[in-house]
Amino acid sequence: MTKRENPFRYGIAVDDPYFADREQELKDYSKWLTTGQSLVVYSPRRYGKTSLMLKILKKLKQEGYHTVYIDFFRVTSRHRFAELYYSEILKQMPSWQKTIKKLYSLTKRIRPVISVDEQGIPVVSLKFEERPGSEELTELFDLPQKLSDKKGWIIVFDEFQEINKLNGDSFEKEMRASLIHHTNVGYAFLGSKMHMLLNMFTRENRAFYQFGKITELRKLPVEIMVEYLQSGYKKTGIDIKEGIASGIINTCEAIPHYIQYLASAAWEEAVESKAGIDDIILGKAIQKIIINQAEYFTSQYERLTLHQQNVLKAISSENENIFNAGFTVKYNLNAISSVQRSTERLLAEGILVRQQNAYFFTDPFFKMWLTAI
Ligand SMILES: Nc1ncnc2c1ncn2[C@@H]1O[C@H](COP(=O)(O)OP(=O)(O)OP(=O)(O)O)[C@@H](O)[C@H]1O
Ligand SMILES: [Mg+2]
Repeated sequence: MTKRENPFRYGIAVDDPYFADREQELKDYSKWLTTGQSLVVYSPRRYGKTSLMLKILKKLKQEGYHTVYIDFFRVTSRHRFAELYYSEILKQMPSWQKTIKKLYSLTKRIRPVISVDEQGIPVVSLKFEERPGSEELTELFDLPQKLSDKKGWIIVFDEFQEINKLNGDSFEKEMRASLIHHTNVGYAFLGSKMHMLLNMFTRENRAFYQFGKITELRKLPVEIMVEYLQSGYKKTGIDIKEGIASGIINTCEAIPHYIQYLASAAWEEAVESKAGIDDIILGKAIQKIIINQAEYFTSQYERLTLHQQNVLKAISSENENIFNAGFTVKYNLNAISSVQRSTERLLAEGILVRQQNAYFFTDPFFKMWLTAI
């Protein structure tokens, strides 16, 4: 990182030097995954699940494990899943010639296709003429286990709740029926649609019931983030007092993505004004973010019914015990049942998240925009 480069990053998974803390999770998750304990990791959006898991995979790969990462947001069909999964698995094999031989003895129904890419390098892939059926999928799911050597495999399925799109139930069942026998593979299932993901692993009638250890990824500790912010600014010659750094974190409700977003905007302000970061610079950065997104916030807001808008406004001032008569009277919201319905919609839209019994805005800047209009 040069002195003129913004020391903060958002919008993509981060690694060093933009990655702070998660020491305990790095240790625990690695230990669990390498000892055959499957893992379910959930958190609201933008807490750092993907970044953390990719970092763990990178570390375990260096230790000799075969590692696979699949993002279910990118998977639009069973077909696509099968091709993607197969090619990610094969990428882990050191020599394709040897792998081909092995594949011929290990799989009967799915057959690799060898082609040559633009650089003349042979690539092995999988093509299905038809939609893969359950036998093909079983062969595919069993592949890592069959290809495992001393170190075994670590496989991450990100945004796993999206599997429901691939006509859910039967696919889930087939997947679980294979995975349950894999002694040499550690699986991690991540997701930000918490309710959907948790249902998959905690409901008795679901295929993945009790399949993995369920853990919630929390926000980053404030003290660590204060230090992270101060050191980022310092590296680029910009002053910031501890109080202002914690101001950034509070404004962003300690959500990692928004901390980096605001820190980055404040950095730009400071560079432009050739100054350190104080309340005025911070205020300007917040204003800029809100102005930049006002159009988007407006369109999100206008898609809601009047009642939903009113519930949202009420929740921006009070976010607990919202399903009681006191709340509905105070904010003029009619019946409790309609508050429940509107809240459900706001949760489903991803505008709010529920944690314990309180409701939070997923995006703290949306909340600031709303309270300012
Ligand atoms: N350990 C970390 N240290 C510092 N910043 C982080 C860390 N983890 C995440 N972030 C910040 O949060 C942003 C979102 O991280 P990431 O994409 O990993 O989260 P996520 O939980 O997978 O989000 P989503 O639910 O949207 O997929 C990153 O771009 C980065 O700005
Ligand atoms: Mg993610």
